[in-house]
Amino acid sequence: MWISFVGLKMKYFCSMIFFSEIILNWYAENKRPLPWRSTADPYVIWISEIILQQTRVAQGYDYFLRFVKRFPNVVALASASEDEVMKYWQGLGYYSRARNLHVAAQTMGGVFPRTYEEVLSLKGVGEYTAAAICSFAYGMPYAVVDGNVYRVLARYWGIDTPIDSTEGKKLFKNLAEELLDKTRPADYNQAIMDFGALQCVPQFPDCRACPLAVGCRALAKGQVMRLPVKQHKTKTIDRYFNYIYVRMGEFTLIRKRTENDIWKNLFELPLVEADKDLPEEELLACPQFQAFFVEGETPVIRPVLRNVKHILSHRVIYTNFYEVILPVTSHSFPDYRRIKIEELGDYAVPRLIHAFLEKYV
Ligand code: ADE
Repeated sequence: MWISFVGLKMKYFCSMIFFSEIILNWYAENKRPLPWRSTADPYVIWISEIILQQTRVAQGYDYFLRFVKRFPNVVALASASEDEVMKYWQGLGYYSRARNLHVAAQTMGGVFPRTYEEVLSLKGVGEYTAAAICSFAYGMPYAVVDGNVYRVLARYWGIDTPIDSTEGKKLFKNLAEELLDKTRPADYNQAIMDFGALQCVPQFPDCRACPLAVGCRALAKGQVMRLPVKQHKTKTIDRYFNYIYVRMGEFTLIRKRTENDIWKNLFELPLVEADKDLPEEELLACPQFQAFFVEGETPVIRPVLRNVKHILSHRVIYTNFYEVILPVTSHSFPDYRRIKIEELGDYAVPRLIHAFLEKYV
C-alpha cells in the first residue's frame, strides 16, 4: 500500500518535471521575438500586459509600440491628458484599461512599484497581471494563470473542474504554482502562455505535432475539445443605436460618454438608443429625437446606413446612421459640443463610429 502510494507520488512528481521541461524546451525553439520580451522595464511590461489582457498579440502589437513611444515612462503617462491617452487606445476596445492605466500612473509618484503587493494594488491589475509583471521584470516566482494556462493545464492533466468556479480557480492556481520553474519564472511563464497561444490552441489543436501528447490526459480520453470546462456561459445583450451625424456648415456635434457604460470617456455623435430597431418614421416621432431640436426647427434628415452590427464581448449593437443638415446658426442639440468637421480626427471615438466617419464623412 505504502509502496504503491510512494510510486504514485513519484509518478506524479516525474510527470510534473517532465511537463515543465518539455514546455521550456518547446519555448526555446518556438519563442516569438516580441518587443516586451527584450526588456526588464516593469513599466513597459505593465503596458504590454494590459494591452494583451483582452487583445491578441497581432492586434495589440502596433498599439503597444505607439503607446510606449509616446508615453515611454510613468511620468510621461501620468502627466498626459486622459483624452490623449484614450486617443492612443482608440480601436483597442475595453477602454477601462486605458483609464485605469492613466489613474494608476498618477498614483505611482514617478516610480513603478517594486513589490508584488504594491503591483497588485494598482488600479486594473489583478493576480494574473501582477504575476506577469513581477516574474518578467523582477524574476519573482509568481505563476501566471490566464486563459492559455487554464487550457494547457486542464487538457494535459485532464481536469474538468470548471475554471470559473471557486474550487477550479484554487485548484488551477495551486497546480500552476507547483509547476512553475522557480529558477526561471519569467521564461516558464512566457513559455506556457506561448504554448497555449500557438500549440494548445482552443480550436483544432494539432495534437500530432505536440511534444506533450504522450502524457496528455485529455488526448488519451478524447476530451481535448471539451476542456477546459466553464460553468457560466456569458449572456449577450442586444442594443439598438441611432447615430446622427449633424452638419452645420463646417461644424459637427459630438459629446463625451461619461456614464458608467460601454465606451466611457470616448466621444460619440448624437445618439438615440431604443429597445428595438427603429424604422425611420419611428425615430422621427420619438420624444428623445424631437428633444434635440429647438422649437420650430425642421431638420433635413437622410438615412445613411442601416443595421450595422457591431459585436462587443457581451453585447451586440445594431446601429442606424443618419445625417441631419442644420443652419450653422442653429441652437439645436444643446447638450452637444460643436467642433469643426476637420477636427473629428483629434477625438477618441469607438471603432463603430470611426469606421462610419472614415467611409462617409
Ligand atoms: N499574452 C499576455 N501576455 C503575453 C505576453 N507577455 N506575451 C505574449 N502573449 C501574451
